[in-house]
Amino acid sequence: MSPLKALPKIELHLHIEGAAPVALVREMADARGIPTDDLIGPDGFYIWRGFTEFLAAYDRVAAMFATPDDHRRLAEAVLRDCAAHGVLYAELAISSDHVAEGDAGRWAEYLAAISEGAAAAEAATGIVARFIPTCIRGLGPERAVAAARLAVGAGHPRIVGLGLAGDERMHAPADFAPAYAIAREAGLGLTAHAGEFGGPESVAQALDALHLDRVDHGVRAIEDPRLVARLADRGVHLATCPGSNLALEVYEDWADHPIARLREAGVSVGVSTDDPPFFRTDMTREYAGLSSAFGWDEAEFRAIARASLDAAFCDDATRALIA
Ligand code: ADE
Ligand code: ZN
Repeated sequence: MSPLKALPKIELHLHIEGAAPVALVREMADARGIPTDDLIGPDGFYIWRGFTEFLAAYDRVAAMFATPDDHRRLAEAVLRDCAAHGVLYAELAISSDHVAEGDAGRWAEYLAAISEGAAAAEAATGIVARFIPTCIRGLGPERAVAAARLAVGAGHPRIVGLGLAGDERMHAPADFAPAYAIAREAGLGLTAHAGEFGGPESVAQALDALHLDRVDHGVRAIEDPRLVARLADRGVHLATCPGSNLALEVYEDWADHPIARLREAGVSVGVSTDDPPFFRTDMTREYAGLSSAFGWDEAEFRAIARASLDAAFCDDATRALIA
């Protein structure tokens, strides 16, 4: 195993369907006679161009997984892939909107299935997994409240937080305050995508309105030095995904990515993969890109994994077992 691949890693920003291995999706599609010529390219990666097409391709991949057994297999495969790149602990973004359409019974069945997959991956590789039910921004604040109620109502031991993903150009962060209040009241950790396509004001609004513990991406905070200082002072962790930002053309090159400048300014940053087979990445490639752009070596990567573990939403006993 290459030295970067073997380093211990923490993955806090990974969407379960966005991480679906292409071979598994092809198998699911073939079994149901669903054509994939316009979804999977001859190079073995998902086909999309630009963020809107990416979200549409993501939804098509998500729809390939229909039964509890499909979801069990997906969770196990995603976590085994993580473990193969040295990930010790992963928080998976999951979505009741993709699998349960508001139905508590289907949601409970789904959670049982992915927990079974997570337990199988843990038995095989040692990886520990927790789940973050994630609201979908484009579906609007009412659906987010329903998702938060399902997240809390499940009372599931692997559910540790609430997230918000999807198109940052739709709705204001404050629209989702009622959903976040439900999760906060129940003691869940709070994170949301912000500062990916939206600028620093999007990050600041999300922090203020949603009382976030962490931010997914958050990288465009770099455009406002006062916000950077606020993130550093408050210890708000950014679960960044540099390879995702490059694939979605938020930045042109590894060297342009603000992760190093954020870190130098004292912000707690982590490295994650977001939707690896969509963005032709994995944890080892992220580390390799950062190592060549910024000269980071083992000491930096160990510090980054430590910062991520400190920001994880699991309990301290779990954290102590992983460290
Ligand atoms: N859902 C999955 N990946 C995403 C991303 N990079 N931004 C927003 N929503 C997402
Ligand atoms: Zn994401």
